[in-house]
Amino acid sequence: MGKIKKIAVMTSGGDSPGMNAAIRSVVRTCAYYKTECIGVYRGYQGMIEGDFTTLTARNVNNIINKGGTILKSARSDEFRTPAGRKKAYEQLKEHNIDGLVVIGGDGSFTGGVIFNKEHNFPVIGIPGTIDNDIFGTSHTIGYDTALNTAVEAIDKIRDTASSHNRLFFVEVMGRDAGFIALNAGVGAGAEEILIPEENLGLERLLESLLKSRRSGKSSSIVVVAEGDKSGKNVFELAKYVEDNMPEYDVRVSVLGHMQRGGSPSCFDRVLASRLGVKAVEILIDNKTNLMVGLKNNIVITTDLEEAITGGHEINKELLRVSDIMST
Ligand code: F6P
Repeated sequence: MGKIKKIAVMTSGGDSPGMNAAIRSVVRTCAYYKTECIGVYRGYQGMIEGDFTTLTARNVNNIINKGGTILKSARSDEFRTPAGRKKAYEQLKEHNIDGLVVIGGDGSFTGGVIFNKEHNFPVIGIPGTIDNDIFGTSHTIGYDTALNTAVEAIDKIRDTASSHNRLFFVEVMGRDAGFIALNAGVGAGAEEILIPEENLGLERLLESLLKSRRSGKSSSIVVVAEGDKSGKNVFELAKYVEDNMPEYDVRVSVLGHMQRGGSPSCFDRVLASRLGVKAVEILIDNKTNLMVGLKNNIVITTDLEEAITGGHEINKELLRVSDIMST
């Protein structure tokens, strides 16, 4: 591999708070090491179309505090095809780009791994997703902010739930991962938490709600991850409980995409800044196919393929804590 003189950076997949802080870090680290930096708009789709812009240290002023991503994001179907990836490679070569930093989640990393295998092009991943479902890092960029957004929203729901003696089902994001549900559930004091990683069954849900009722609770909150495996969506769950426990006045609140927006927390800004520096440094050091991440507050690297396949295990101890807390 030759000397890395020009690096491209992009954001891909679902956006997450702190992606701008990560872009800023990559751009400024490039400037620090006198390496050119190119921003790719709209993820892999923009790469295929050559939608590029030169980024200097001054182009990323005043974005550390901004949600979303200045480079926009997309999920590209064309990049899933060999022809699409070939076009993307040709665009990078035409612009004399020597290496790529992908800020995204597992889908974006999968694209990066295949791209590297096919075209031997250096790729480094920075984990940016609110789902926190990436192996090789305790935290992904955006997770902390999303968690706090969810807790704040559930706190507000608690006020109205308590005023009306109601039972609320609150759906949080996480198609395949229960990190947000489990942690926001414990943090917001939910009675029950339903996550994709553990199907405790509908009977247990009824039992637990009955227990709460008998113990004198007049309102309750059940946090449900989007990808929960009970076999019912959040509206069906609410109906099921209403049918079986008519004494409950049940409502549903789906938090949705508001969890992906907003100004990043300090934790996410610091994490993004640290990971951006490391990503550029290892790329300049001619490393490829790695993801930068955080373990025990130390920045580490993990094989990019392993980051996708390794599986980030949820902390089941929190289910037990939640159980005890709902006494
Ligand atoms: O980025 C991850 C995520 O927010 C998941 O939690 C959610 O299931 C999905 O993206 C939603 O994707 P979209 O923005 O395409 O609706």
